[in-house]
Amino acid sequence: MSEIVGYIGKKNALPILIEKMKQMSFKEYDSSGILVLSDNKAILVKVVGRLENLEKKLKNKKIEGNIGLGHLRWASVGRVITKNAHPHFDCKKEIFLVHSGMIENHKELRRQLIKEGHILSSETDSELICHLIENYFQGNLEEAVKKTIQKIRGAYAFVVVSRKDPQKIVAVKFSSPLFFGKVKDGILIASDKSIFTKFKPIETKDGEIIVFRRDKFHILKERINFQSENLDKGIYPHFMLKEIFEEPEIIENVIRGRVILEKGMVKFGGLDALKEKLKKINNLILIGCGSSFYAAKFGEILLQEYAKINARSEIASEFRYLDPFLNKSTAVISISQSGESTDTLAVLKKMKEKGMMTIGITNVISSSQAKETDAGIYLRAGTEIAVASTKTFLSQLITLVMLTIYFGRQRSMDLKTSKRILQELIKTSNFIREILNRRSEIEKLAKKYQEFKNFYVLGMKYNFPIALEGALKLKEVSYLHAEGICGGELKHGPIALIDKNFLTIAICPSDSVYDKMKSNLQEIKKGNGLVIAIATQGNREIQKLADDVFYIPKTLEILTPILTVIPLQLLSYYFAVLLKREIDKPRNLVKSVIEK
Ligand code: M6R
Repeated sequence: MSEIVGYIGKKNALPILIEKMKQMSFKEYDSSGILVLSDNKAILVKVVGRLENLEKKLKNKKIEGNIGLGHLRWASVGRVITKNAHPHFDCKKEIFLVHSGMIENHKELRRQLIKEGHILSSETDSELICHLIENYFQGNLEEAVKKTIQKIRGAYAFVVVSRKDPQKIVAVKFSSPLFFGKVKDGILIASDKSIFTKFKPIETKDGEIIVFRRDKFHILKERINFQSENLDKGIYPHFMLKEIFEEPEIIENVIRGRVILEKGMVKFGGLDALKEKLKKINNLILIGCGSSFYAAKFGEILLQEYAKINARSEIASEFRYLDPFLNKSTAVISISQSGESTDTLAVLKKMKEKGMMTIGITNVISSSQAKETDAGIYLRAGTEIAVASTKTFLSQLITLVMLTIYFGRQRSMDLKTSKRILQELIKTSNFIREILNRRSEIEKLAKKYQEFKNFYVLGMKYNFPIALEGALKLKEVSYLHAEGICGGELKHGPIALIDKNFLTIAICPSDSVYDKMKSNLQEIKKGNGLVIAIATQGNREIQKLADDVFYIPKTLEILTPILTVIPLQLLSYYFAVLLKREIDKPRNLVKSVIEK
């Protein structure tokens, strides 16, 4: 996360900004910049690298003015180059802005602004806000900001000034921290509350537009009613298919600005405030319902094995009625795409009452879960319309891999391991593109097996939660009876059902449990059962054990779920199409299970 600071008052802004930027400079950043306004003149200086570079560039320059903005950039959208450093400006260099967070719909906005004739000077999402403000500006900055925030989606805090509406600073935030408070002879606005040394700062609330003048401020409350997202199906017949096709880009969104590859580290802005406390946590409980619980299960396996932390997953709808023994040094990770599932919120409430630290993973920034938790990670998947979770589930998996590295690096995970996982994680978006390009293979499989009524989805270890998710998808959208089973359990009972009318979808990438999966397939064959295998490219042997094979690209064992889930999502979609189901709104289901 980048850090922002603004000053308006009687003093010269520059030394105050530099002092405050120094106080924040222990955090990760790659470039910095300042803007000082005096009379009608704007002086802008930006550099790549440490703050000392900025100071060097400012040396011997006479920069005076009582209004200023400062920024420490941690690149998310756009490379680490001077023109991408903040402050950013509009076409006429009249509006200047510093921003922290990420604008999710930046691609759509960039296209629109270029079409309208705006001249963009950087590769960032942040600059686009200046141009939107420029569009709406009619002499009053806060009025333009009011309209602008209806057009941007994401988590953000920004501070803006205009030469055409001088003597004021306007600030607003949505799900990113922003504080303001008095300093001697003026007002300071910043993303980091620790820089307010003398007076306790005020925390800005989501959607509050604050107008600062030299010695006073006023707040305009604005409901953010984001509407510009493209919520039609576009070229796709159903939202579910559209959302599956968005998955490669979502992986890129989830990773953007959060991976420090050379250090093998992951940075979650939302966890920054709890970083030190999290180092001391010994136990994690991951909670969720439905698909979100399966993601929690995947997280549990990963966190145990790679972060060496005592993690356990619990079904929230069950856990809320239990009274388990809980260790004090426990944090609860609540996973909910909507952030509104009653069962998940009920567990969260209970855990909070017991004094547990709570972290939320959600796709809805303004959700109840986001408000209830001590800290949060946002899924950045964009609105999911189809009732069946696809892209949000994938985003949960990616987030949990990254969270494992976050916790792992705080503990014993070495640089080589974390770097290797992150390098491979980055490749998964293209691997998914490859799988989606072969969707017709899945469509053919759905046609071939459309008469089947009963299914097992078999998986082991990291792919057991994916077997559960694959079976849930078949139930939800295709109304087919499917059970997710872990490979080793087959012979403990379920194999009794196997006959020529029973189809097993076996998730068997070439991994540490491949041999075990292979022997399961041999047993199914003995019982005349049919098998579709999801296997790793290059595995010819599997063709003798399965009736059909869908190949996925080779990746690290722990990342295979990110790939194996895609053919399962597509298969349930194509079955549903052939069976003429109500794909986006299956019978009896709702998107968020909320109890009144
Ligand atoms: O919004 P949540 O993630 O809390 O929802 C939990 C479940 O209701 C949800 O995952 C459900 O299982 C999905 N419809 C699965 O596709």
